Amino acid sequence: MPERPPPMDNALKKVFIKTYGCQMNVYDSERMRDVLGPLGYADTATPEGADLIILNTCHIREKAAEKVYSELGKIRRMKRARAELGAEMLIAVAGCVAQAEGEEIVRRAPAVDLVFGPQTYHRLPQLLARRSASGRAVVETEFPAADKFGELDSKAQPRKGVTAFLTVQEGCDKFCSFCVVPYTRGSEFSRPVAQVVEEARRMAGQGVKEFTLLGQNVNAYHGMDDRGRSLGLAGLVAELSRIEGIERLRYTTSHPRDMTDELIAAHAENPKLMPYLHLPVQSGSDTILKSMNRGHTAEFYLRLIEKFRAARPDLAVSGDFIVGFPGETDNDFESTLSLIREVGYASAFSFKYSPRPGTPAAESAKQIPEAEKSVRLQELQALVHAQQTAFNGAMVGRTLSVLLEKPGRDAGQLVGRSPYLQSVHIQAEPGLIGMIVDTHISGVGSNSLSGHYAGAV
Ligand code: 5AD
Ligand code: SF4
Repeated sequence: MPERPPPMDNALKKVFIKTYGCQMNVYDSERMRDVLGPLGYADTATPEGADLIILNTCHIREKAAEKVYSELGKIRRMKRARAELGAEMLIAVAGCVAQAEGEEIVRRAPAVDLVFGPQTYHRLPQLLARRSASGRAVVETEFPAADKFGELDSKAQPRKGVTAFLTVQEGCDKFCSFCVVPYTRGSEFSRPVAQVVEEARRMAGQGVKEFTLLGQNVNAYHGMDDRGRSLGLAGLVAELSRIEGIERLRYTTSHPRDMTDELIAAHAENPKLMPYLHLPVQSGSDTILKSMNRGHTAEFYLRLIEKFRAARPDLAVSGDFIVGFPGETDNDFESTLSLIREVGYASAFSFKYSPRPGTPAAESAKQIPEAEKSVRLQELQALVHAQQTAFNGAMVGRTLSVLLEKPGRDAGQLVGRSPYLQSVHIQAEPGLIGMIVDTHISGVGSNSLSGHYAGAV
């Protein structure tokens, strides 16, 4: 007879959530924890011994689905081992791969119990109940009309930490020809102003000082206010700045086409809005931008950056780039490098083009060989790396305001965040966590800065 596992200490069940991909998935995983809390699920850091495992997946690049299937293979073995002890382990696949693959996941990985997309995770309790009543896998990838965010709000658990993500907008109607987001996250949606303000106020009350407002097209935000009027992102930022306890605001990810003069002006006028802008351009070639369906030229992007810098001269810019998009010539790639030289990035994410099933660019006959993509990626990354190193190096000798976040690796050390999203190591008392302090920057490492406390701001 296999031995039964000992009864759990406080009858709590354990959930292990593995999060892939973007910051919105990080936020979504937090909200899944919120809805599972009242069901008696506590978070655990390892999959072994978990009662429920959730893979919150990403579908944006590379063999995302294949990675999930191989992970599921490992988890299936854990599930079997646990079953031999007479205990259950439920396996759930959530997020964008779940949305894209649906039933196929259960067909290929029959050990999976639940499959649900990004629009349905607020219904996790019902999905779990359906699974337990039927004993069969439950697949839920509809886009229900119900307001996911509204339902989630009542279940929120206290936040730890002094920085937090806050989703304000979701989905995308832009249909860039390489991108799966409009298919997996659905069409664009903005949360009502009052709902966002309420969530921000609650988290600020729990000690969150810095918020990063999230959306696939965050600057297309147009939430309804209490008077039935539509408020843009600049208006929302203004509202949130008035909340007591909120010291810093950021937003990501923006699309060049949705930038407004009000938002640019907010960078000049609102000291709580951090001087950091993540504005992807993907390519510096107008031919490629056109076939990507981006709806703007390289020149348009460069003029936007100019406007931002006129409003906020110390603005740091980051971007996303794709190399080896179908049809990209050496000349097109050169245009991307020259755009990068002109902008001067503080950081950038760059990727080899990866054909996503169901997107128009995946059908193109002009695919670029992998080897060529790799060469271009290396060259682009070397350029961006040099810019990033120069940007960080220029901080030495300056005084930056640093939000102290958590203990560092060494004794007596804290790690904080600069206005430009750099990690800063400083010798300071743990009691200062949550404070924003002036810091003299004296050193620069590969990924972080170090400095000395120079006083509270
Ligand atoms: N291939 C490579 N990179 C992609 N991205 C989105 N879709 C693809 C794809 N099919 C990149 C873009 C986007 C970032 C989030 O991921 O640069 O801005
Ligand atoms: Fe994808 Fe383009 Fe929408 Fe960004 S704007 S999410 S890249 S389709």
